Amino acid sequence: MADPARAAAAARRLTPVVRLAPAKLNLTLAVLGRRPDGFHELHSVMVPLALADRLSVARAASPGDTLRVEGLDAGPNADNLVLRAFALTRVAVGRSAEAVPLAARLEKRIPVAAGLAGGSSDAAAAIDAALEAWGRLDPAGAPDPEVAALRAAVATGVGSDVPFFLAAGPALVEGRGERVTPLARILGTAPGVLLVTPAIAAPTPAVFAVFDAGGPASPPDPRSTRRTSEHLATELRAGLDAASLVARAGVLASANDLAAAAATVVDGLAGLRRALTRRLGRAVGVSGSGPTLWVLYPSAAAADAAAADVRRGIDDGSLVAPGQAPPSIIATTLARSAPNEPGNEPGSASTGHATEG
Ligand code: C5P
Repeated sequence: MADPARAAAAARRLTPVVRLAPAKLNLTLAVLGRRPDGFHELHSVMVPLALADRLSVARAASPGDTLRVEGLDAGPNADNLVLRAFALTRVAVGRSAEAVPLAARLEKRIPVAAGLAGGSSDAAAAIDAALEAWGRLDPAGAPDPEVAALRAAVATGVGSDVPFFLAAGPALVEGRGERVTPLARILGTAPGVLLVTPAIAAPTPAVFAVFDAGGPASPPDPRSTRRTSEHLATELRAGLDAASLVARAGVLASANDLAAAAATVVDGLAGLRRALTRRLGRAVGVSGSGPTLWVLYPSAAAADAAAADVRRGIDDGSLVAPGQAPPSIIATTLARSAPNEPGNEPGSASTGHATEG
């Protein structure tokens, strides 16, 4: 008689695995110092957003892994972290016969090189999709300790922002990015988020290099960002609702140690940030190493209205954004639930509220 577990695993291998890969926002980002390996010690409260890429993975007909990208331009496939994640995951599982070549299709909705960690999130989704396709991960249950350790190690190997996405919820991120402590979700209504991403990249190494060089791009009191970050992590652990989070937006918007360096790398970012603050009457933060600017709202509808207003401002020239093309303007929310929870149909509720301009 056939082994039911093996039969289920085989059936899974024949059906494409679909994973949502959410964007992230750094609500705080304290840079604690430069390490001997060149990376920086961080203390950051990160939250996943409803805005998400969608990754679909099936068995490939070809002898090697393949990737097709639709939607936003994600750059050359050879540099795509999805293929890198497949390759490293295959090495980690020991190149077994089960680890068949994979064909991936990525619907790219998260702006690229924007401080939203879209590429890292795609990589985290790719690690899990590969493990699922190879029968090493049961999507309905928690991974066994060996698989959990393997995916964490592969995630760190792919990039500093990747381990955060394995937590599938708000988390305190420390070390280089590999120490991830899950925090509670925001209670009640998901806060709305307006994202304004100028069409100009702020490469993370360049932003860290400006930060390291010191001068005006360094924060005035690095300890204060850390205190804000620690305080928010404590509050989130205890449970915080949308209104309380939005009430803290002013403090959080100034709690990114890389913001000034990002404004040095991207000429015109500081001006756009000030203009948005004046126009919207709300604090405007920078996500990660930028250049995405974020504004928190009590609801998705309020973020939608703000996005429409910013679009008008860009169209009529009263708002000027750096870059050769108009900025991407997206209204979304903080993620309401883990994006790939059983019963949470990929591609529906979790991505529901993204509108692009
Ligand atoms: O790990 P990842 O490849 O995403 O990092 C990209 C670059 O960002 C690194 O080469 C480094 O310059 C910088 N970085 C850093 N400290 C971190 C994370 C990233 O200096 N904790």
